[in-house]
Amino acid sequence: MKIIRARDYRDMSRKAANLISAQVILFPRSVLGLATGSTPIGIYDQLAEWYDKGDIDFSETVTVNLDEYHGLPPDDPQSYRAFMRAHLFGKVNIRPDNTHLPRGDAEPRAECARYDALIARLGGIDLQLLGLGRNGHIGFNEPGEAFEKSTHCVELTADTIRANARFFGDEGAVPRRAITMGMKSIMQAKKILLAVSGDKKDILERSLSGPITPEVPASILQLHPDLTVITDIP
Ligand code: F6R
Repeated sequence: MKIIRARDYRDMSRKAANLISAQVILFPRSVLGLATGSTPIGIYDQLAEWYDKGDIDFSETVTVNLDEYHGLPPDDPQSYRAFMRAHLFGKVNIRPDNTHLPRGDAEPRAECARYDALIARLGGIDLQLLGLGRNGHIGFNEPGEAFEKSTHCVELTADTIRANARFFGDEGAVPRRAITMGMKSIMQAKKILLAVSGDKKDILERSLSGPITPEVPASILQLHPDLTVITDIP
């Protein structure tokens, strides 16, 4: 595991964007696993800026996102598809049919199977970007009794609903369920980049050096052979 300590959020975003950009320059057909939430916004802004300057080309790149809210169609402004369009896909030359997220409006069981089959067909993920939830979740793999292997539909915890209310105006509007990539697709990614910012010192420490337990889903990342953590937490 490599831990890169950044000076601040901007520095963290630039360093993470540099690593993603190196991946795309070296392997233009990379399959990038992407995340939503506040943490990656600065990374996506930086990638879009470098794209504008002609430094990076996404024309052959494929993306698979970690998760999507259940019940929201892709054109819902609160969907993660809309988030990705606003922050990255709409700003760079990635082909829309090369961008993949679970469909929130599909029948969950069939959609989960479709998503796993899709990731397998793409040959797995080359570089997976992750954020860290306040309760240690990655994707929407919430604390529980077991690490869930495949893409599955989850009930969001009260913690996660509260944390995501900022995007919806109030807690009541946050969807209660989500479809998330499972641990197998995440752990089989060739490289993982975990970006952690702000007020998450305790959960970051528990994830990186505490016991490996499904109670702290991110703790399984300790077993990944190529994990880079970039954080602005001293
Ligand atoms: C989002 C996702 C979540 C977030 C996590 C941290 O696609 O998978 O696991 O990465 O909730 O969110 P922020 O970055 O908003 O603190």
